[in-house]
Amino acid sequence: MKIGGQATRTIWVEADGATVGIIDQTQLPHRVVMSRLVTLEDAARAIKTMQVRGAPLIGATAAYGVCLALREDASDENLERACATLLATRPTAINLKWALDEMTAAVRNRPRGERAAAAYRRAAEICDEDVAINEAMGRHGVRLIEDIAANKNGERVNILTHCNAGWFATVDFGTATAPIYTAHNRGVPLHVWVDETRPRNQGAALTAFELGQEGVAHTVIADNTGGHLMQHGQVDIVIVGADRVTALGDVCNKIGTYLKALAAHDNGIPFYVALPSPTIDFSIGDGVAEIPIEERAGEEVASMRGRTADGRIETVRVVPDDSPVANYAFDVTPARLVSGLITERGVITANREALANAFPERTNDATAMQRTGTR
Ligand code: MRU
Repeated sequence: MKIGGQATRTIWVEADGATVGIIDQTQLPHRVVMSRLVTLEDAARAIKTMQVRGAPLIGATAAYGVCLALREDASDENLERACATLLATRPTAINLKWALDEMTAAVRNRPRGERAAAAYRRAAEICDEDVAINEAMGRHGVRLIEDIAANKNGERVNILTHCNAGWFATVDFGTATAPIYTAHNRGVPLHVWVDETRPRNQGAALTAFELGQEGVAHTVIADNTGGHLMQHGQVDIVIVGADRVTALGDVCNKIGTYLKALAAHDNGIPFYVALPSPTIDFSIGDGVAEIPIEERAGEEVASMRGRTADGRIETVRVVPDDSPVANYAFDVTPARLVSGLITERGVITANREALANAFPERTNDATAMQRTGTR
């Protein structure tokens, strides 16, 4: 996708062939700052502080974190240390564990002298696969938007999205935004309602920025606006991303997603989730009971960061000094509220059978499948 008209990915290997470039997402939308990861610790810090975020990009960054660690020391002990350090950064997005498992499998049985090069190759593949998956989701999901457009006689299709499941959450193209960009590129008239997504404002800062760069019509709304818009016929479809989807089709995504699903259900509005297969966790069934929900520092809720009229970036407190604050980063939308899952293999029902049929190679672990049960 483009920044200032220039095609850019969110993560890349620098010209030295070893260090890793990222866009520091904590600086957006006011500044575009590129940052360089040199060590494992840099990669872990970038994920933890959300310089990079979004399930697929967390996975890609972790993959390069393993490369940076093996470049220094390719021993088994250092591989284990790298995976443990990276896995501890953020608990909810399953793409992190998936990427670390992929990296371990790619290097484990090789002589030490070959491990770093093999790691860089696999990390690059993970990035390219992410882009290909997102493009495929775009091709499948665009039909949902085109079908709505066909019934609106040229009127624009209104899509509501939450958080940033766009280009910035992935290596390129995005998950929830993939059908949107595909429809936009095909000339389908559309407009996106962008939830601001407190406390970190990924919608206001990132989704609005990237839609603007691509010339997609959009409006940023306060998080609690969606229900009102749905009641007044202003939303045709909701498309969100996911940080983890269980074997039964429960969807864990940014806090507030569940409330949008309830409002969509009450108003008969289709609610779709776009997810790449590395986001599926076939080892668990009941998302509410089993997915670990990240709790982040209360400071993120108690304060707001933004640009002052004279151009300074400032953080201000918006909560009384003595008030306790809670900051749950994700929630779970039960499968029954999900109209369908947009995957790289097609749009499928959010249930165990459809997921297992679409991704049979991921469900080989009979023990895991047994444990997930049915509902
Ligand atoms: O805390 P974040 O910004 O890493 O969370 C990301 C999300 O929840 C996104 O909405 C998204 O759907 C998952 S990444 C495609």
